[in-house]
Amino acid sequence: MEVGFLGLGIMGKAMAMNLLRHGFKVTVWNRTLSKCEELVQFGASVGETPAAVVKKCKYTIAMLSDPSAALAVVFNKDGVLEQISEGKGYIDMSTVDADTSIKINEAIVQKGGVFLEAPVSGSKKPAEDGQLVILAAGDKTLYEEAIPAFDVMGKKSFFLGQVGNGAKMKLVVNMIMGSMMNAFSEGLVLADRSGLSQQILLDVLDLGAIANPMFKMKGPAMIQSNYSPAFPLKHQQKDMRLALALGDENAVSMPVAAAANEAFKTARSLDLGDLDFSAVLEAVKVSKNKA
Ligand SMILES: NC(=O)c1ccc[n+]([C@@H]2O[C@H](COP(=O)([O-])OP(=O)(O)OC[C@H]3O[C@@H](n4cnc5c(N)ncnc54)[C@H](OP(=O)(O)O)[C@@H]3O)[C@@H](O)[C@H]2O)c1
Repeated sequence: MEVGFLGLGIMGKAMAMNLLRHGFKVTVWNRTLSKCEELVQFGASVGETPAAVVKKCKYTIAMLSDPSAALAVVFNKDGVLEQISEGKGYIDMSTVDADTSIKINEAIVQKGGVFLEAPVSGSKKPAEDGQLVILAAGDKTLYEEAIPAFDVMGKKSFFLGQVGNGAKMKLVVNMIMGSMMNAFSEGLVLADRSGLSQQILLDVLDLGAIANPMFKMKGPAMIQSNYSPAFPLKHQQKDMRLALALGDENAVSMPVAAAANEAFKTARSLDLGDLDFSAVLEAVKVSKNKA
């Protein structure tokens, strides 16, 4: 199976690498083209533009930072739209809002192509291990054709119906995750300022009903102020923003998520956007200092 892959950031690189490892022929493109070199060493070919990749491949996957990147790669000069045509499928695995996905779907379909949105749950390590959870929606036939690739990149995939549902499911999941990370950070700061051991707090949490892989994995690094990026904070804040907009559209009051979003915004203003989203702890520390 020959697939194109657009976007070799933290996630895209790991996902494309898994496809190569499992015998897929992969043609890659990244805005910063030099990032393709590592994949070439593992057998990938390089396309000079998104259009060139789509021209060559029956299926093209994208993993891009946000709605504006997802739209640019499709609609800009040398973009996906220039070469998409009947018989070709485009699968966008980036986390975007439903409106962005719907806009991309309409343009692809108008050109005779087929579209699937397929955002993922799971971070850098699950991407490397092929353990992502894939939240697909859109063209059902394309979904079925993509299953061999999804099986390599993920441990489970869901088909959620019409375009937009994958984006919405992903935003709900990340809204919960961002709120949890903020509450966790407040707990770590509260323990510390109360004269308690943060390590013992982690041990206590891990033995009880609110134990979870995220606290277990991120906690030890957080108490060392180590925020090496697996999921960049700027992307988590983007997801909070998009999830809050979804709440606005549906008149769902989400004060907890709104407060968490403020903490992520503060963290961005402190220049922490490129660090892991657990660096929100630093913003919580600052706000507690002020108090
Ligand atoms: N990291 C995670 O744990 C995780 C988990 C689940 C979902 N996601 C989602 O997956 C997506 C990718 O995340 P990531 O962590 O891999 O992000 P990342 O490391 O920041 O990579 C972003 C990618 O988007 C490209 N890009 C950004 N703006 C662009 C533009 N205007 N035109 C073309 N390409 C552009 C970047 O190209 P350059 O290299 O040229 O900058 C890079 O390839 C995001 O939507 C994120 O929310 C991430």
